[in-house]
Amino acid sequence: MNTLSIPALQPEDATVPATSPTILVTGATGTIGTELTRILSEKGVVFRVMVRSARDVKKFNTLAGVEVVIGDFNDTATIAQALVGIDRAFLLTNSSEQAESQQLNFVTEARRAGVAHIVKLSQFAADLASPVRFLRYHAVVEQAIKLSGMAFTFLRPNLFMQGLLGFRASIAEQGKFFAAIGDASVSAVDIRDIAAVAAATLTGSGHEGKIYTLTGPEALTHPEMADKLATALGHPVTFVDVPPAAMRDALIQFGFPIWQADGLIEDYAHYSHNEASVVTTDVQDATGSAPRDFAAFAHDYTSVFLTALSSH
Ligand SMILES: NC(=O)c1ccc[n+]([C@@H]2O[C@H](COP(=O)([O-])OP(=O)(O)OC[C@H]3O[C@@H](n4cnc5c(N)ncnc54)[C@H](OP(=O)(O)O)[C@@H]3O)[C@@H](O)[C@H]2O)c1
Repeated sequence: MNTLSIPALQPEDATVPATSPTILVTGATGTIGTELTRILSEKGVVFRVMVRSARDVKKFNTLAGVEVVIGDFNDTATIAQALVGIDRAFLLTNSSEQAESQQLNFVTEARRAGVAHIVKLSQFAADLASPVRFLRYHAVVEQAIKLSGMAFTFLRPNLFMQGLLGFRASIAEQGKFFAAIGDASVSAVDIRDIAAVAAATLTGSGHEGKIYTLTGPEALTHPEMADKLATALGHPVTFVDVPPAAMRDALIQFGFPIWQADGLIEDYAHYSHNEASVVTTDVQDATGSAPRDFAAFAHDYTSVFLTALSSH
């Protein structure tokens, strides 16, 4: 691992060494980014990550081929520094009220820096006219990337299977988890498959201009997911449907900002209308491997769910 010296990377006068990475990964400390950086490193790819805190540099100590630069989506000068010498960039932020402007900052700086190809982590059914705020902001950023003239690949994943890990305390304490989704089916996708698609598009060819709608291999209701979790964990797990207002209160109590809690309620309203049950072949098309099913996710994360059980 190599930590970049920021003062050496002024965009105006930087001379980029021949060995300098040409791939930049943002969001590298997050759910998908952690898996993506592991895959790239295992493939022997030399790449750069942009992290916003010096405290996070050590998280990449064990990964070969990684150069770390400190940068913040709210600070365009640091984005410009992170982009020096970059040909392909992976764009990911969390879904906050600032996400749209942060990502538009990045698109502007990427175009200025001469980036050839942006791989953007978007969301299933991104649409400028969607009633779901997350789907609207992703569509705004997708549109800006298209208009920028840079090559693009948009990854539009459905609900993350790993999102259920957020319920592991209530699954451990009560054998229950709660959401406002009714009996609708969702083709949830494993984040390991999303990261594999991101790695393939950042390192391979033929992905320019593609929009990959990333789903798992099946659409399941939440009670069906509960049954599969129960089988893997070896104890009863029940799904409890709750009204949107109750779910919103719980999210706010849990510490979600209002904007985000309201966005999640909009997301779940969209799921509850069975609008996220389509199953695609896009993971297989992009990577050559079939996506993991929910039973595999439940099996592989049993110890994570059971850790929550033993800590209560
Ligand atoms: N959850 C789902 O079911 C779902 C489904 C479809 C699509 N999505 C999309 O997935 C995306 C989230 O992916 P994820 O779960 O992997 O994200 P995540 O775990 O929340 O990670 C967010 C990453 O962005 C970084 N970041 C945040 N603010 C930053 C800033 N100001 N400057 C630099 N870096 C910053 C974080 O760094 P720090 O470590 O410093 O915070 C972290 O690395 C969202 O766009 C969401 O719409 C989610």
